[in-house]
Amino acid sequence: MRNQDSGGLANGESTRTLEYGLNLRAGFHIMRVHARFCRLTKASILIRLPDVEGKVALVTGGSRGIGRMIARGLVAAGAKVYIASRTGSEETARELSREGLCLPLQADLSQEAGLLAVAEALRSAEGALHVLVHSAGAHHVASLEDHSPQAWDELWSINVKAFFRLVQEFQPQLRQASRPGDPARVIALGSADGARVPQMDVYAYAASKAALHHLVTHLARRLARRGITVNAISPGAFPTDMLRPALEQWGEETVNKQVPMQRFGEPGDIEAAILYLVSRGGSYVTGAVLPVDGGLALV
Ligand SMILES: NC(=O)c1ccc[n+]([C@@H]2O[C@H](COP(=O)([O-])OP(=O)(O)OC[C@H]3O[C@@H](n4cnc5c(N)ncnc54)[C@H](OP(=O)(O)O)[C@@H]3O)[C@@H](O)[C@H]2O)c1
Repeated sequence: MRNQDSGGLANGESTRTLEYGLNLRAGFHIMRVHARFCRLTKASILIRLPDVEGKVALVTGGSRGIGRMIARGLVAAGAKVYIASRTGSEETARELSREGLCLPLQADLSQEAGLLAVAEALRSAEGALHVLVHSAGAHHVASLEDHSPQAWDELWSINVKAFFRLVQEFQPQLRQASRPGDPARVIALGSADGARVPQMDVYAYAASKAALHHLVTHLARRLARRGITVNAISPGAFPTDMLRPALEQWGEETVNKQVPMQRFGEPGDIEAAILYLVSRGGSYVTGAVLPVDGGLALV
């Protein structure tokens, strides 16, 4: 409908058009800001996100491997990131602090004393925790006959129990961080081996990851009303220390060929997944187990 006063549009239409124009302009502005802060490489995406900037995150197992990739993505996006592991966190924190703010915590999270020490250290430094990522984990490859009871205890302590205990301990800080439309985020690192029958003899590991996937859905349902989302990222084959026994046993080429997309995971794959879950895009997503595995869970 045309109208002379509003440059040819009826009043309602002109308001909507104006809003649309402003939204479009705001969108282009955000894209330009993002583009300015973006640095894309083959393996890594570094992007400063306004809705992640200034948030406080804890990444267990952030000293190396996938946890380090996650910590790096969050640091680059502008979060203040604590990383916790038994060793190596200081060096990693120093390296990642070149791009932002990364602080080390040292503890064995499979032990109650270590877990409480991390909880206490973070609580005394921060009132709110916006993002909790549990990437610390252990792996064990042994035949049915050689799979030891100790391996079961060790793996379940760090892979499953530590995750549950961290969520328990950080309830008040997660609730403190939560805002309407912007919930606090809890993310566990599951595994494609928790979603299928694995190729290798990883009985304790695969069962622990299947349990973790289930625990994520259970917690997601309980915590949704408290303004906390709970999700899992389920990686496939990423060439970290954890995958080394598989690479040695099968060879790089064989492992690669098992993946339907015929390549290993790269840091950029994990960084993009974590940034999705912690930013506006993931604010209405809870109880999901997001495969980042090139199709491995389908094999
Ligand atoms: N790599 C893969 O292909 C793959 C595939 C599927 C799932 N995942 C999952 O992704 C997560 C990360 O795996 P990754 O490949 O990065 O493993 P990784 O390279 O072996 O790193 C494991 C991390 O966890 C920490 N950690 C282990 N035990 C710990 C404990 N008791 N207390 C505190 N920190 C502990 C390690 O540091 P310290 O040794 O210094 O303590 C390290 O930072 C794990 O949950 C794993 O199951 C990995």
